[in-house]
Amino acid sequence: MKRIAVMTSGGDAPGMNAAIRAVVRAALDKNVEVYGVRQAYLGLLTGDMELLTSREVSGILQRGGTILQTARNEEFKTPQGQKKALRRLNERGIEGVVVIGGDGSLRGALQLHKMGVPVVGVPASIDNDIWGTDTSIGVDTALNTILDAVDRLRDTATSHNRAFLIEVMGRNCGYLALMGGILGGAELVITPENGITMEEIAKSLEDAYVRGKTHAIAVIAEGASYKVTELSKFLQQNHIGFEIRLTILGHTQRGGSPTAFDRLLATRMGVEAVERLLGGESGVMVARTGREQTTVPLAECTSKTRLISPEYYELAKMLSR
Ligand code: ADP
Ligand code: F6P
Repeated sequence: MKRIAVMTSGGDAPGMNAAIRAVVRAALDKNVEVYGVRQAYLGLLTGDMELLTSREVSGILQRGGTILQTARNEEFKTPQGQKKALRRLNERGIEGVVVIGGDGSLRGALQLHKMGVPVVGVPASIDNDIWGTDTSIGVDTALNTILDAVDRLRDTATSHNRAFLIEVMGRNCGYLALMGGILGGAELVITPENGITMEEIAKSLEDAYVRGKTHAIAVIAEGASYKVTELSKFLQQNHIGFEIRLTILGHTQRGGSPTAFDRLLATRMGVEAVERLLGGESGVMVARTGREQTTVPLAECTSKTRLISPEYYELAKMLSR
């Protein structure tokens, strides 16, 4: 293999730049050229890609976002779109692709593999919902951003005897909410998986008030079965003792400089992806299991759901008293 391409796709995640840098420098080290594809699958369709030199990935290791930009693209989901992309790759003599992104992006990568393009995926998504890997690029940074916010909100909550509802991202996965809750010392965690009712939430926050707590923090996953605004209204109407305030952290969780953990994860995964691709592997995703780096088939990780270990729910409950 003499020429490969790299792209970042789906929601951006802190550490994507560190992964791009690792892919480019690991490939150049093996005398392989690297095209950077702009705006994910959209760039593959339009041929928006450029050769990257070592200098072009200088000074990006610590930057959030992605220098290649990212996009969501419906056309690539169609057979016609996929053929167009294949034609663009052939035009430039690209022999393999590294796709850095979330589960949707990895589904796209699997389609490329099925068309005969050698592909290795790298898991990057703050949601930590990708099956087959302990963690993905961006999760640690997003979690630290959440903890910073929870700590700050507790300061003001305590000062005013208030309960705060804090909505965090995660799409359909409650990982960020659960970990943000446990590590931020929240009174309550609400996720799509644990299905707590509004009545149970009111009861639990009221109990905290009666027990004499000066504040209550509830961390809520965006994928929970009701809107936080509805929940906030419900709690206000039910007079739980605390005054209620609502904070939606939103896209602040996606930005910022990657933590040391995410830089290391992205760097190791980027290098591993190139080594696997040049070694002849395709249709796989680089994965972290324990301290090992392995690969798992894309077909498997895109068809299974990553479940949160139930013991973490027990931990959250036990420690919130
Ligand atoms: P993420 O990668 O963060 O989960 P998305 O689910 O939005 O983000 O997927 C990113 C992009 O991956 C989509 O906009 C689309 O271009 C591509 N993609 C997703 N699913 C498929 C699929 N089944 N086949 C081909 N491409 C897909
Ligand atoms: O998948 C990452 C993520 O940030 C999810 O947590 C969230 O639901 C979604 O992307 C938001 O997407 P957008 O950037 O399109 O608003």
